[in-house]
Amino acid sequence: MFARGAAGVRYRPTVAVIDLGAVRHNVRLLKPDEVGFMAVVKADGYGHGDVEVARAALQAGATWLGVALVEEGVGLREADIEAPILVLTQFPPGSEADALEARLTPTLYTDVGLRRLAAAAASRPDRGPLGVHVKVDTGMHRVGLPPERATGFVRDVADAGFVVEGLWTHFAKSEDLADPFTEEQTRRFRQVVADVRAEGVRPRALHAANSAAAMALPATWFDLLRVGVAMYGLPPGPGLPKASELRPAMSWKSAVALAKRVGAGEGLSYGLTHRLDREATVATVPVGYADGYGRLMGNRSEVLIRGRRYRVAGTVTMDQLLVECGDDPIAEGDEVVLIGRQGSEEVTAGELAGLLGTIAYEVVCGVSERVPREFVGGKAE
Ligand SMILES: Cc1ncc(COP(=O)(O)O)c(C=O)c1O
Repeated sequence: MFARGAAGVRYRPTVAVIDLGAVRHNVRLLKPDEVGFMAVVKADGYGHGDVEVARAALQAGATWLGVALVEEGVGLREADIEAPILVLTQFPPGSEADALEARLTPTLYTDVGLRRLAAAAASRPDRGPLGVHVKVDTGMHRVGLPPERATGFVRDVADAGFVVEGLWTHFAKSEDLADPFTEEQTRRFRQVVADVRAEGVRPRALHAANSAAAMALPATWFDLLRVGVAMYGLPPGPGLPKASELRPAMSWKSAVALAKRVGAGEGLSYGLTHRLDREATVATVPVGYADGYGRLMGNRSEVLIRGRRYRVAGTVTMDQLLVECGDDPIAEGDEVVLIGRQGSEEVTAGELAGLLGTIAYEVVCGVSERVPREFVGGKAE
């Protein structure tokens, strides 16, 4: 809605190009032969477009999709995606009927959540036993069931007529390979698995590994990986194996909208926070913080024009930013790369994240809806 003009035409050159070939490459790189692969496509596929990424990931061998919201799962079904979809929290109250109608797989971890799901399932008696995934909190304390309650809960889930198809947990800091906590979480999870099996319940999908664990820690793989950020080609942290083989799927591009000479001593943009030492060409680029290019990037980040890096000069405004280009022959229409490659230079989402004190996840999720996504590499290979 945002991104299109009246006739479906785009007038602004700003676009996020999503390389679905890169998504397929990353899935193939990360998926071990004998282990399933859940493509985590929540938050509109980390800003890349959930439907398109889901299709590409499934083509490359993903076996599951993971979403945060029931709405996201319903959206995938509306796009005729048939793969199993796990909602990574319990269905919110009131959403159960729609979630079941859309054949979304529930996560469960509280008694009240179990009761609500059982009530919703009872009104669909003809549909047969429903598979659910029980989530255990092994130390992150976001959502999940305390390990000591797992056995009793799994029994209650089975008594309510559900099939415990999956048992899973989530790591708090697996990207930090030096921290032993992932090993401790894995140990706690294995204990829960053993306890549950001792009760005679054998979930066929045990899963724990996010991107970092999928890249570095085979002992955490179990039956299924749940991979988000690395599938988009972004390493979740430094020093992880295979990081150099990942291909970033998003490039963010625009073009110079205006190039003009500005005199020595003049200040640029709101607050005049950057002053020219000498006369220079100043390029105006139609990207701003309303597009998700953070205001704090002003005077810090760099963009690529004609294969060279240029610092963003002065404050990033809502819709436009400025670049000081010295005496270089920069002209209206020149491509500007905000994230991605140009010539031999590259700006990564990780580089921008570092400037903002955040992580690449937030940078790509933050590219706003106003920026049209253009998909390339969409055909199956
Ligand atoms: C429960 C769960 N599993 C898996 C993932 C994927 O994590 P990553 O993007 O680090 O691979 C996420 C993302 O935050 C998550 O919340």
